[in-house]
Amino acid sequence: MIETAQAFGVDIGGSGIKAAPVDLTKGDFAEPRLKILTPEVSTPQAVAKIVKQQLDHFEVPESAPVGIAFPAPIKPGQKLDFMANLDQSWIGVDVTEVFSEACGRPVVVVNDADAAGLAEVQFGAAKGQDGLVIATTLGTGIGTALIYNGVLIPNTELGHIILSAKLSGRREVCLLRDSRERGTGLQEVGQASDQVLRPYGKVLQPDLFTVGGGVSRQSEKFLPYVDIKTPIVPAKLRNQAGIVGAAYYASTKQQ
Ligand code: BGC
Repeated sequence: MIETAQAFGVDIGGSGIKAAPVDLTKGDFAEPRLKILTPEVSTPQAVAKIVKQQLDHFEVPESAPVGIAFPAPIKPGQKLDFMANLDQSWIGVDVTEVFSEACGRPVVVVNDADAAGLAEVQFGAAKGQDGLVIATTLGTGIGTALIYNGVLIPNTELGHIILSAKLSGRREVCLLRDSRERGTGLQEVGQASDQVLRPYGKVLQPDLFTVGGGVSRQSEKFLPYVDIKTPIVPAKLRNQAGIVGAAYYASTKQQ
């Protein structure tokens, strides 16, 4: 790992496992990231083996904080009780323990949307924002992070409220995913995002929304169709946010 990197970040997703050394003075990658496809059967052992491979590839020193962004709610010292995007064999597993053992060193695990939200508040589109920021990642799953005056309120799963409370929530998720794969009309994506974000705004009264995740590349074009009162901005770190946020979070835990 080169000297400008102070920490190492990994972002585990349903399709790819991405990792890079991170320069925390800039909130950016210190070296180009390495992406390895998520194994079709994404068991704890299979995924953890890839993370170890990535640490070895970048020759990450023992002293560097290692942060892993993970697509489920993470409570340190507790076993996972809910998993939407990877193999169900993760349920009942202590995620931090699995990764620490496979990597042969202590690592810090954080929910992927929380990592992305922290990165936006620390380095990106929500930098300097007072009050409540709701950072969203709209993609295959809907991820949310609540950050109040810079402090993370971890493991919010607002995306799942919509899915369980309202059948058509599934349609919104499909639309957001399809927009990447098939180029769904931007107006429709805007309207789907509107339906996802509107209830969050009404119930939680945030001061700012950021929109990241798979669809964020097109956000300048579809955000005009989102008609809600809360200011809403595209995420700035985009698909770097999970890695940068996880590395940053791990560095705060190691101080
Ligand atoms: C998971 C969240 C995750 C989001 C984005 C959801 O399905 O439940 O924990 O943050 O997907 O990956």
